Amino acid sequence: MSEGHRPDPSVTAVGDADATRDAAAESRGHWSTRAGFILAAVGSAVGLGNMWRFPYVTAEGGGAAFVLFYIAVTFIMGIPIMMGEFAIGRNTRLSPIGAWRKIGGRAWVPFGYLFVLTGLIILGYYSVIAGWVARYALGALFAGFPAEAGEHFNQIATGAPAIAFHIGFMALTIAIVMGGVEKGIERASLLMMPTLFVLIVGLAVWVSTMSGSGQGYAFYLTPDFGELLRFDILAEATAQAFFSLSLGMGALLTFSSYLGKKQSLGQEAGIIAFADFGVAFTAGLLVFPIVFALGLQGAIGESTVGALFIALPSGFATIGTLGRVLGAVFFIALFIGALTSAISLLEVVTSSIIDEKGVSRRTAAIGAGVIIGLLGLWPATNLDALNAMDVVAGQVFLPLGGLAVAIFVGWVMKDPLEEVMQGMRPSARPWMVAWRWLLRIAAPVFLVLVLWTTVPAGWEAVRALFGD
Ligand code: PHE
Repeated sequence: MSEGHRPDPSVTAVGDADATRDAAAESRGHWSTRAGFILAAVGSAVGLGNMWRFPYVTAEGGGAAFVLFYIAVTFIMGIPIMMGEFAIGRNTRLSPIGAWRKIGGRAWVPFGYLFVLTGLIILGYYSVIAGWVARYALGALFAGFPAEAGEHFNQIATGAPAIAFHIGFMALTIAIVMGGVEKGIERASLLMMPTLFVLIVGLAVWVSTMSGSGQGYAFYLTPDFGELLRFDILAEATAQAFFSLSLGMGALLTFSSYLGKKQSLGQEAGIIAFADFGVAFTAGLLVFPIVFALGLQGAIGESTVGALFIALPSGFATIGTLGRVLGAVFFIALFIGALTSAISLLEVVTSSIIDEKGVSRRTAAIGAGVIIGLLGLWPATNLDALNAMDVVAGQVFLPLGGLAVAIFVGWVMKDPLEEVMQGMRPSARPWMVAWRWLLRIAAPVFLVLVLWTTVPAGWEAVRALFGD
């Protein structure tokens, strides 16, 4: 499935780099195949955000009308900003902090730190949720789902079990990142992502045969255009797109720093966004039919966490063995998605430490992983903290990081067109000119409006956490 072409280590093509930097870039990892890079990036994008949050916000935000809007946001905001991250990463061959410093100067370095901080925060709670997912998958395989789903969740999601599974998940993530770009991340992605696709599509086909699933599709996809007139829904869709596409915190910037010059950044961004949306949409096609077939409609109004970890398992518990198999496949798929996303989050921090401190990958991955492991103790023992971390990082820091990328590539970076045109046909140039104008004007205006509504929400979440 791969083309097997090696990205040329064309450090010298950068021309102006000095000898030491050449040597450093030379020793950096790189993707050995095009499919490896694409699947790693898709692996970063596809995760808990697609498989649970997307169907959920869609159902709440107006069904098919929301889906159409989400596609528009992905095209107008997501793909261009992803290409912006790619342009910075591939041009500098550095992780975020060094990349901003190299082509932006000192004034932009704080955004590099913001990216790393965002990675720390997101992985801190993401790993906790992934730990729950692992616990549910193992439970389905070896014990079945208990009828007392709410109580079961409380046991799993707080205290020692939550901490233990969080630490275990971090250890696994560290082990893969320690393996390096080619032998760790690429290999894991080549193995896991196709598995995930098969599981998800298989589940979607299977649940379509369950009686009562029709109502699920209707609930998921009936368009309600009224909801779209609310700006908070638009802002929510944008934040969701950023989270789902892993934008605004340097994950894709870092991945593209291991890329050669032959690949078309536009084409890769399109493929990644399409795959991410495809999985999110398919997830909706399996979650809602299950919910309706098992008579769990009442749970839809609950918190997203409640519906995923309480309502769904309680439904699985009512249908015995079938529920166990269904549940096991579902939670295994979710686990794979979470793991490949976590890898990219840890890679941002690890790669930054390697570039900044000159330590080995092993030391950097373990150091970063331990810090995140400790940070995660908080959300592992406090669900309000988990929620606040999600709101602040997901709704505020990611759009803010995206805004920085848009302004930087649009206005500050010297000749981003030249970078992005490498690997593209000359006829693509007018499109790339349009791309730059999108980043210059449309993206910043829109993202400022989004932040206008999400910053107060983030502030509120923090106040609620510390307020009492
Ligand atoms: N995109 C991942 C998901 O949808 C989460 C993520 C966000 C990963 C930001 C990396 C960076 O679950």
